[in-house]
Amino acid sequence: MAETEINQKAEEILGQMTLKEKVEMCSGLGMCFTQDMPRFGLPRLLTVDGPHGIRIQEGSKDNLGITKGVPATAFPTLSALACSFDKGLLEEIGAALGEEAYEYGVSVVLGPGINIKRSPLCGRNFEYFSEDPVLAGHLAAAYIDGVQKKGIGTSLKHFAFNNKEHFRQLSESVVDDRAAREIYLPAFEYAVKHSQPYEVMAAYNLYKGEFASESKTLLTDILREEWGFEGIVMSDYGACDDRAKGLLAGQDIEFPPVGSESIYDGLKKGVITVEHVEAAARRNLRMILKCLGSLRPGYRYDREAHHGLAARACAASAVLLKNDGVLPLRREGAIAVVGEFAEKAKIQGGGSSAVNPTRVVSLLDALNEDGISCVYAPGYRSGEDVVDSQLIDEAVSAAKNADTVILCAGLITIYESESVDRKHMGLTASHLALINRVAEVNDNIVLVLFAGAPVELPFEPKTRAILDVCLGGQGVGTAIRDILFGRVNPSGKLAETFPLKLEDTPSYHYFPGGSRAVYYAESVFVGYRYYDSAGVDVQYPFGHGLSYTSFRYSGIAVNGSGYDYTVTCQIENTGDCDGAEIVQLYVKNAASSFFRPEKELRGFEKIFLRKGERKTVAFRLAERDFAFYDNYKKRWTVEKGEYEILLAASSRDIRLKHALYLDGEETHCPLRKSLIYYNLRGNGFSPEDFRALLGHNPPPPEREPGHPFDLNSSLGEMSVSAFGRWLLRFAKKIVTRNIPEEGADAIARHMDQIIGETPIRGMVQMSNGILSFDMARGVTLILNKKRCRGALKIIKNLPRAVIGAWKTL
Ligand code: BGC
Repeated sequence: MAETEINQKAEEILGQMTLKEKVEMCSGLGMCFTQDMPRFGLPRLLTVDGPHGIRIQEGSKDNLGITKGVPATAFPTLSALACSFDKGLLEEIGAALGEEAYEYGVSVVLGPGINIKRSPLCGRNFEYFSEDPVLAGHLAAAYIDGVQKKGIGTSLKHFAFNNKEHFRQLSESVVDDRAAREIYLPAFEYAVKHSQPYEVMAAYNLYKGEFASESKTLLTDILREEWGFEGIVMSDYGACDDRAKGLLAGQDIEFPPVGSESIYDGLKKGVITVEHVEAAARRNLRMILKCLGSLRPGYRYDREAHHGLAARACAASAVLLKNDGVLPLRREGAIAVVGEFAEKAKIQGGGSSAVNPTRVVSLLDALNEDGISCVYAPGYRSGEDVVDSQLIDEAVSAAKNADTVILCAGLITIYESESVDRKHMGLTASHLALINRVAEVNDNIVLVLFAGAPVELPFEPKTRAILDVCLGGQGVGTAIRDILFGRVNPSGKLAETFPLKLEDTPSYHYFPGGSRAVYYAESVFVGYRYYDSAGVDVQYPFGHGLSYTSFRYSGIAVNGSGYDYTVTCQIENTGDCDGAEIVQLYVKNAASSFFRPEKELRGFEKIFLRKGERKTVAFRLAERDFAFYDNYKKRWTVEKGEYEILLAASSRDIRLKHALYLDGEETHCPLRKSLIYYNLRGNGFSPEDFRALLGHNPPPPEREPGHPFDLNSSLGEMSVSAFGRWLLRFAKKIVTRNIPEEGADAIARHMDQIIGETPIRGMVQMSNGILSFDMARGVTLILNKKRCRGALKIIKNLPRAVIGAWKTL
């Protein structure tokens, strides 16, 4: 249907709808459907996770990835794909996801996730692209284009400032306006303006004192009015504290649906008008009508082709971090493969994005397939972090007699999972122990790293090569084999800096923050913006990645006037084999009156060059590429003065430079020049500096002691009373009843933490209609020692709960 037709049809339906139907339109149906309204010919539409594969759960549904989905292609995670720096590849993967959506009857894929990696510890970093907003925004736009060209919708998430998992449903992200505009919002802005995702998913956390899913500033003022977003805003699952407030702020649909009563209440009180409901219902209707045309019953995607794409994407994204010349390997010679990830590949992280792969090719499978012989010793068990000396001893003896050891190590799933952040940046302890022991007997270690985020590599000097496959999806084994043995020339580069150690990271003193607030005290100094400005040594810089060939950069030319320029240069493949280079363009504002990062990525291109070939690479620069966000004037501003255009192979490998004078505005920053932001001394951003930057006092990181229980008290807080402890145990039993046997203990421990950090209202939101807010209020009354009133409230609502439970059986 053409857009005008969709709009007309939506108006027609809206004109016939009762108020009840309009309100219903603003809620999901169960965990993953939109409302069906047969009298208007509207079927229910399926929306499922994303981002790196389709996850449809049959039977009991959860949004934590506990139960397995139906088999679908597990592509490399977004953190891996980001290292390809390849917009075309992202679009291709998007299109493949669109085709899989056809087969499974999916109308909207919940992805891509685009939050900025503020700390390597964020448990969901593997679901996100980068520490840099330009890279994240451009790749997200390509992904969205790929999916949406197939007529399938995407949901860009999590809007906004959801950069940690710790107390994700209760914590306020305290960010100064410049960091918000320059670091955390631009990727969303670019993807929205460029690709118009059908949906944006509002995040769990709070921003400026309000839940993101109820923030008019975010959902209406910025998203719709400033950026021109035309789609619908959905809540993250259980993100909505006050549905009526959410609706007024611009949240069109709530998942799972629990808030209609609050909308009726608002209508009754006159806080909400019928027009408010209609505006959201209209947008939902348009979205549904738009998706209707792409249902393709009976469609079957080509499983082999998609598996092949997953393997190719992994090979194009893997980053060769180190190579002293040992790679590519020759097939001859004794090879020992060590580490259970070689047999049971770690292909993705845990949580709502976990895909049940159609098949997995491990490294051992791939070597076998190709007749490459090796001895293998697991060295550790991949589902747990337990140092097993017998397994290590066996691996050591296998390594002793080998010419080369391919050692597979990384992070196990409980360290990379939704809802929980990592506590340290070290490798899985059992993997680390294995590396250290093997290094005592063999000098020829090629390390293959399976981790969705940077890890500390204190043993790096003991290795000869390191290949980072990140979380490479179901074809990972093939990709590793092809790179190690030289069939594929590696071409990925890091989308996130590898710091030397956790203490070096800019957010070190403030991550993950408390249960009620987290301070983004480092402001705009995130990732390489910090390391390069503060001159902090890193293990591997942003944008770093080796190749089996070499590239020469020459002939930078900058043409244009005002704020519009074209930058070109020549790149030549000067080595012995074909290969691809990722050319990065950074802009440096040499002398600015506001503090600014040393340089910022403004463009990137990946180009393929045959041996000896030379090509011209071109970039366009516009006003925004030179601007910073003046939070006093509340607008983007280009400052008058000297700039430099840098063409680079990584943030620390600048190959060409060109100076530029821009006749911009005279600016003046009222902040004291003594603040650390003007003269970085490590990551010692003090609370006083941050307060001066914010211009007000931030909320305290923890909830004030003695605060009475309310629906936003965490379940963990309940454990102060026997009743609360009993309830907590009960909640844990319910949530963990579907845990698969494999790795059950680890998952259960994980769940303990997640449940403890969930607000009391979350029990209602995720109960599938069994519990009501009134029952939850009853619980808080009991916890606040008003036992009789509380018990009465619970008893009054019990029949409804029993009926609800019976219905879900
Ligand atoms: C996650 C979302 C996901 C949703 C549905 C939430 O817990 O934050 O990213 O799309 O669940 O599974």
